[in-house]
Amino acid sequence: MAEKSKTKNLEIEKPEGKLGVLLPGLGAVATTFIAGVIAIKKGLGKPFGSITQMQTIRLGKRTEKRTPKIKDFVPLADLNELVFGGWDIFKDDCYQSAKKAGVLDINLLEKLKPELKKIKPMRGVFNRDYVRNLDGDFIKWGNRWEMAKKLIEDIKNFKKKNKCQRLVMIWCGSTEVYMERKAVHNSIKNFEEGLKKDSKFISPSMIYAYAAIKEGIPFANASPNLCCDIPALVELSKITKTPIAGKDMKTGQTLLKTIIAPGLKARMLGLRGWFSTNILGNRDGLVLDDPGSFKTKEKSKLSVLEYILQPHLYPELYGEIDHKVRINYYLPRGDNKEAWDNIDIFGWLGYPMQMKINFLCRDSILAAPIVLDLVLFLDLAKRAGLSGIQEWLSFYFKSPQTVKGLYPEHDLFIQLTKLKNTLRWMMGEELITHLGREYYDA
Ligand SMILES: NC(=O)c1ccc[n+]([C@@H]2O[C@H](COP(=O)([O-])OP(=O)(O)OC[C@H]3O[C@@H](n4cnc5c(N)ncnc54)[C@H](O)[C@@H]3O)[C@@H](O)[C@H]2O)c1
Repeated sequence: MAEKSKTKNLEIEKPEGKLGVLLPGLGAVATTFIAGVIAIKKGLGKPFGSITQMQTIRLGKRTEKRTPKIKDFVPLADLNELVFGGWDIFKDDCYQSAKKAGVLDINLLEKLKPELKKIKPMRGVFNRDYVRNLDGDFIKWGNRWEMAKKLIEDIKNFKKKNKCQRLVMIWCGSTEVYMERKAVHNSIKNFEEGLKKDSKFISPSMIYAYAAIKEGIPFANASPNLCCDIPALVELSKITKTPIAGKDMKTGQTLLKTIIAPGLKARMLGLRGWFSTNILGNRDGLVLDDPGSFKTKEKSKLSVLEYILQPHLYPELYGEIDHKVRINYYLPRGDNKEAWDNIDIFGWLGYPMQMKINFLCRDSILAAPIVLDLVLFLDLAKRAGLSGIQEWLSFYFKSPQTVKGLYPEHDLFIQLTKLKNTLRWMMGEELITHLGREYYDA
């Protein structure tokens, strides 16, 4: 049944002028995204996997037959208005970097070469203490406060040079070592003092997030890094009226987990164990070969089942799950990851059953449309006057960032309902609860 939304439609500024997309980390994900958008604009490919470009949204009752495409319903920036830039710790331009990443076919890359060659990284803010398996030399020097200032300068120069009306930043850099919240993360006052004192508890990805949020630029964290998931940066995002979202894009194995686990729970089938293993040979895999970075990823991957299955409510079904996740760096596989899942379930009277999934996925092919959607939705959120954590974008993340004290919603289908209802709410359309009594009561 359609429920009257509580608000009228929000005042949303029109998406006029150029939208600059700034990406710290011009590696496999970022270049697959950029090259993909250019290819789509040239008619060389379709934006499969992108909600903003392909999905429809039902409005009103089922009998009304109103199902526009999302991009025709909410005012999103046009792909022709996107301008790309970013930072890396290696000097390669986007053509070289995409070629090295080996995700896209070389014949396609050759057709995009002139545009990709022009996108050159700015010097990155980097420290090997946080990503031990990389050693780039294209970096900025100075203490953390000076580096934050330099990033803000880069942002302003980019905006001016490219005549952008608005900007969005998505962290597509490597996974940093596992970090826990410290006092320096508790408030923006502490954080800025920490930058000035060059605190080791402030990682490079946090400095990029700080620079963006300080400038009021919407920011998303595509990696599992702690990054903007700290009270200091959430506080800053409210002050500067900046939408933020994170963390860790939900692509291969975890995407499948959040599709399958809600199904098992819906049918009250028990789960005894879930063993997930992966082989991949891209730079991300190399970074994750370091136990520090792997721990950050592992935490992010493990949390999903617990939240979806709610063992505290269903101890007999989900109280004793053995959940293991392994990632193995295996060079020949490149970006074409192979994942195996063994799932031990049980049904009626406790009889055991097994499921085996062998997913031969392409990591960056799954990630690129997420980056595009985050860019367009965060820009929309900014123009709609939304700020702070955008939980309606949790659909895209393995570890959705939420307000303190609120557990994250991991079920993909609940997340999609939340996303679409948020769009309806923004546009003053009725929210859809799927009760549907009105079709039968008449
Ligand atoms: N590919 C996926 O499906 C997927 C899914 C979820 C999350 N992620 C995350 O997205 C991120 C990017 O993944 P990828 O496959 O493109 O990795 P990648 O290694 O190909 O690219 C990361 C790039 O970031 C650069 N970099 C590292 N630290 C930097 C810094 N401080 N400043 C600027 N640049 C820096 C590296 O040099 C590299 O070019 C990783 O954190 C990964 O865990 C990827």
